[in-house]
Amino acid sequence: MSDHDTSLRTPIVAVLGHVDHGKTSLLDKIRGSAVSDGEAGAITQHIGATAVPLETIADMAGDLVEVEDFDLPGLLFIDTPGHHSFSTLRSRGGALADIAILVVDVNDGFQPQTEEALDILQRTGTPFVVAANKADTTPGWNPVENSPIKPSYDGQSDVARQRLDENLYEIIGQLSDDGFSADLYWRVQNFQKNIGVVPCSALTGEGVPDVLAVLMGLSQRFMKAEMEIDVEGPGEGTVLEVKDEQGFGATLDVVVYDGTIKEGDQIVVGGVNDPIVTEIRALLQPQPNAEIRVENRFERVESVAAAAGVKIAAPDLDEAMAGAPVRVVRDRAVDDVIEEVKAELAEIEVDTEEEGVVVKADTLGSLEAMANALREAEVPILRAEVGDVAPRDIAVAGTAREPEHTVILGFNVDVLPDAERELEQSEVTLFNDDVIYQLVEDYEEHVAEMQR
Ligand code: GTP
Ligand code: MG
Repeated sequence: MSDHDTSLRTPIVAVLGHVDHGKTSLLDKIRGSAVSDGEAGAITQHIGATAVPLETIADMAGDLVEVEDFDLPGLLFIDTPGHHSFSTLRSRGGALADIAILVVDVNDGFQPQTEEALDILQRTGTPFVVAANKADTTPGWNPVENSPIKPSYDGQSDVARQRLDENLYEIIGQLSDDGFSADLYWRVQNFQKNIGVVPCSALTGEGVPDVLAVLMGLSQRFMKAEMEIDVEGPGEGTVLEVKDEQGFGATLDVVVYDGTIKEGDQIVVGGVNDPIVTEIRALLQPQPNAEIRVENRFERVESVAAAAGVKIAAPDLDEAMAGAPVRVVRDRAVDDVIEEVKAELAEIEVDTEEEGVVVKADTLGSLEAMANALREAEVPILRAEVGDVAPRDIAVAGTAREPEHTVILGFNVDVLPDAERELEQSEVTLFNDDVIYQLVEDYEEHVAEMQR
């Protein structure tokens, strides 16, 4: 990446979609590794980030991407596990990702998490391409390994092509129902107005060159101005995950989207209670083309410039929150930076009322998304917090005056053992799911049942 203008930062690409639709496989194909094979049940357990250099992208995309045509250093892909809401990927003022791939299984079509992802893409105005994946499962399909999609598509039998077309038009129709004008990508003239749908297969590699070409085009044409960052400036990032690592205690997996983070830097991180002020003891970065979640041979680095995924080891990180901001203090007054972090957290703070339900979520972003969904459903919230269900939550939910509000709605959280016992003895009902609208639906059904 060194021969490119380092003041242009790597665009951040989120890979989104419903469980099992092929997000990790598509990334595997791109980085030529097989993370998916090493995963328990092929389920992605954590959010990871992978930097793919421009040269690798150009290699994969063949004639569709020429290194000379681009002055971006590459792409930073963030894989979002299906059970994890994409909404974790927030940054100051909006989406952490600059662009996105929405992966849809051609046979399965739109599913709850596809809708959820699309909602967020719409709300944040994030440009995206639709990867209509698993095209190879079309009956009668004749695969052409790693080929661009057009020659492969044109070379299929009429029957196979018609079957695929039916599924593709179903997807295009669903996008249109959601207010997006979409078409097969080779018919799209203006990617600013229309969403390109690329038939592809993470298994055979067909169409993967096209997905990469569209991504590069999107980032080059619409992003270049925003990609120019002050690489020397104090780093800004978002916590993807708080994880215990042997020898380091609680560490942060962070995506840095602006400036530089250095070892020894003082940082401010959003915490469960107050912002945490600490000093970076070590910065650990995976090798290029490696995956942060499975890569144990982290390389200790002195500094990291945006955009990059990095693990931060520092004291006092136990109470850091996934989805929270990280800010390097550098030449500024620490109090100013604390105020900055507080202001950003206040932006996400959920409006609570005197009466309502208790909401618990795994990350700030998912808490925000839950709150939005509940507001739309006109469900009042008494308390909303990031974290597992604790005895205190049951006590709080128990104070609701209306029986329909003695409820805890948990998004992708665990129930602490003491809370489990108390829950059994209380009137409080817990709903726990990893699909937001399922939670809302379950809750509404519960209320309807009570009124019967
Ligand atoms: P989660 O992380 O659990 O949300 O799933 P994911 O979207 O990352 O899906 P993953 O890549 O783990 O793929 C799910 C299953 O679909 C695996 O068994 C893959 O081998 C299979 N699969 C993915 N892409 C394709 C494809 O293009 N063709 C075929 N035939 N199978 C695929
Ligand atoms: Mg996955």
